[in-house]
Amino acid sequence: MIKLHDLYFKPFISAQEIDAAVQNMVDAIALELGDEMPVFIGILNGSFMLVSDFVKKYPKPCEVTFIKLASYEGVKSTEDIQRLIGLTQDLTGRTVVILEDIIDSGNTLEEVHRIFKNENVKQLLIATLFYKPESYDKDFKLHYVGMEIPNKFIVGYGLDYNGLGRGLPDVYQLKTTQHMTNLVLFGPPGAGKGTQANFLKEKYNLVHISTGDVFRYNIKNETALGMLAKSFMDKGELVPDQVTIDMLNKEVEKNAGANGFIFDGFPRTNAQAKALDILMDSKDSQINAMVALEVDDEVLVKRLLERGKTSGRADDADESIIRNRIKEYYTKTAILKNYYSDQNKYFGVDGVGSIEDITVRLSAVIDKL
Ligand code: IMP
Ligand code: MG
Repeated sequence: MIKLHDLYFKPFISAQEIDAAVQNMVDAIALELGDEMPVFIGILNGSFMLVSDFVKKYPKPCEVTFIKLASYEGVKSTEDIQRLIGLTQDLTGRTVVILEDIIDSGNTLEEVHRIFKNENVKQLLIATLFYKPESYDKDFKLHYVGMEIPNKFIVGYGLDYNGLGRGLPDVYQLKTTQHMTNLVLFGPPGAGKGTQANFLKEKYNLVHISTGDVFRYNIKNETALGMLAKSFMDKGELVPDQVTIDMLNKEVEKNAGANGFIFDGFPRTNAQAKALDILMDSKDSQINAMVALEVDDEVLVKRLLERGKTSGRADDADESIIRNRIKEYYTKTAILKNYYSDQNKYFGVDGVGSIEDITVRLSAVIDKL
């Protein structure tokens, strides 16, 4: 997957497939024209790469020139075609073959026909490497088509998105829906969240984003966001949600190719849950589930006291502190449980049993998402 400006694109047509399609066009045109010497006219900018490859393959003498038209803004074709460079030579009586990288709405092609209306050429043939039949609404004949493609925006092999992507040898298609599995993982202290997160990220190729780790990383590396967060913490204030969201956004963007994310330690409030939804939405994605490990209080207390004996963590040694942490967890997550339940996204999973058993239970939930 690649990112150009704000959009993600996935591999769509390989350089080899393009090469084969170009060769087919060359063969068909060379066969039809025989010894007639054509003038190939590339439509700039997009066609430069096609024209270069095409004429290198063309087996007979030919002439090459370009005209430059522009119609696209961003990822949309516009009606308004600008003639930036017109014809610069007399083509009376010549066989002209237009070489287009792509024909979409056909607006550009209409302009090409307008340009040639009074040129008295012998014949005007249209060749295009890519053709989007679903969006073509003109009647002009397309004499040679390399490949028909669905009506989705592509880049590469001369085609750009706002200036970027032209040099890519392969063609990429705009990613509109991302099939990601994004989980918000919850569990009271001692529920085995960390252990399970490690299994799940391996099994489903997810990226585990622990907010605590992200904070420590940003502060340690003195990133702009880390310094900003620290300035609040130094004053004893809570770090504003937007700062945390911005950090998470950076993590998500760093891992644009991931199958999904496991959010751990975030969100903690309704406002944060909403902010996370907005963030995922901006990535063409969503939170699929809040998965909460459910473990009986008594079991947790026992587990944590056990852990306290070896870990040396002070907060694992005192039973009343442990009970308090557990109580706090339930008070705080109740709100989120409601938030995600309302969207039918809350899944409680029995967290008592062997590690493998619990992984199996979690997988059963995730596999159905
Ligand atoms: P049309 O005028 O709508 O047929 O579009 C023709 C021009 O729009 C092409 O020459 C390209 O410059 C541009 N275009 C159309 N579809 C795409 C695409 O999927 N990616 C990049 N540019 C495109
Ligand atoms: Mg073009």
